[in-house]
Amino acid sequence: MKPRNLKRIAFATSLGGLVTVSVAADLAPLPQPKFNTAMAEMGRFLFFDERLSGDAGLSCATCHNPQKGWSDGLPLSKGYPASEYFRNSPTLLNSGFKKRFMWDGRLDGADMGTLVRDMITEAHTMNMDGRLMQERLKQVPEYNAMWLKFRKDDINGMRVFNVVGEFVRSVNSKNAPIDRFLKGDQGALNGTQRAGYELFKGKAGCVACHNGPLGSDGNLHRTGVPENPAVTSEPLRHITMARYYATSGLPNYMMTHDDVGFQAISKNPKDKGKFATPSIRDLKYTAPYMHNGMLKTLDEVVDFYDKGGGSGAELKPLNLGDSEKRALVAFLESLSGDPVVVDKPKLPAYKVRAFGKN
Ligand code: HEC
Ligand code: HEC
Repeated sequence: MKPRNLKRIAFATSLGGLVTVSVAADLAPLPQPKFNTAMAEMGRFLFFDERLSGDAGLSCATCHNPQKGWSDGLPLSKGYPASEYFRNSPTLLNSGFKKRFMWDGRLDGADMGTLVRDMITEAHTMNMDGRLMQERLKQVPEYNAMWLKFRKDDINGMRVFNVVGEFVRSVNSKNAPIDRFLKGDQGALNGTQRAGYELFKGKAGCVACHNGPLGSDGNLHRTGVPENPAVTSEPLRHITMARYYATSGLPNYMMTHDDVGFQAISKNPKDKGKFATPSIRDLKYTAPYMHNGMLKTLDEVVDFYDKGGGSGAELKPLNLGDSEKRALVAFLESLSGDPVVVDKPKLPAYKVRAFGKN
């Protein structure tokens, strides 16, 4: 095993000391999701409800569409009307298990409520005022009834974010061949896929960053994916990026025409071009790939790594043969579960509350 595939794990002993050991990093089976069923059920309605956006024109499902792998199938995400986004819309499958959210890793994976608040209130996604959202939802009798199944108070804006988050936590893939294999069913992967797994852990070195249940170390790395030219040539995307840099406080941001990734958060020039390692589950449904959708297929992804990534990457060329590349792609496909499709529910209508109860 190559030393870079080792990770250090600390655990407490029964005598109170702390022991650190090095173990080989590997993929792990997907755990069972934990969520509150009544909250997730209301969250399912809110996820599809356009009234959560300022102009009542788009919902979470607009950009995280269950029919499109819980993403939108586009290289770069759309935005709130009159804006376009400068990054790819990530899949929501299994995102409850993420250690960090967003391509630049700016949000803690443990804080789903904050993430949902940002999605709903940010000018470039749903551009919604939190108080307006609260008052809109209170005038839907069915939503009040759903709320009372898990809380005794009135619908409250801040808690609505957690309700949507609870639904997101419930969106998990099932029955991926890799999980059956990792649990001991040798036949779950065919010979080509097993060869691909050996390359993944060995010669190709993927497991150094892609490990754990999601195939993500939850860290930031520079792989040198080329810039998507649309971010500079399409004014609406460029405006969103500049506004994002202005908000995050990136020094001299008007001089920056690239997506600097984690640098916008840390403000450290050494972090330019670093992005969070994404999950590599369910890739079958989530093309195109990378933070800016620049790689269209898994063949392109493997070719990219074979060349040692792009400029400035912390990677080395792999010198894989054609059959090795095919095996690696076949293995990546075995990390996809059955399609997870949730249909848009029939949304309940507004009805003004009785006098004295608004
Ligand atoms: C206009 C498109 C759009 C809408 C609407 C939208 N999102 Fe997103 N979402 C994105 C994009 C783009 C990102 C990645 C942003 C980045 O990395 O800079 C993202 C990121 C996320 C992530 C983090 C995933 C990860 O792997 O890091 C979650 C979870 C999420 N959105 C949930 C939601 C929820 C829940 C809603 C509805 C309340 C919602 N989104 C509405 C486009 C959208
Ligand atoms: C040094 C850490 C590192 C190594 C090694 C690595 N990756 Fe990645 N991988 C990343 C990061 C970071 C990204 C996101 C890059 C971006 O969006 O700009 C990524 C993105 C991906 C994606 C796209 C996922 C998506 O949803 O868009 C795939 C697929 C992938 N890697 C497969 C592999 C394979 C196969 C290997 C081995 C040949 C490998 N990676 C080696 C860090 C790494």
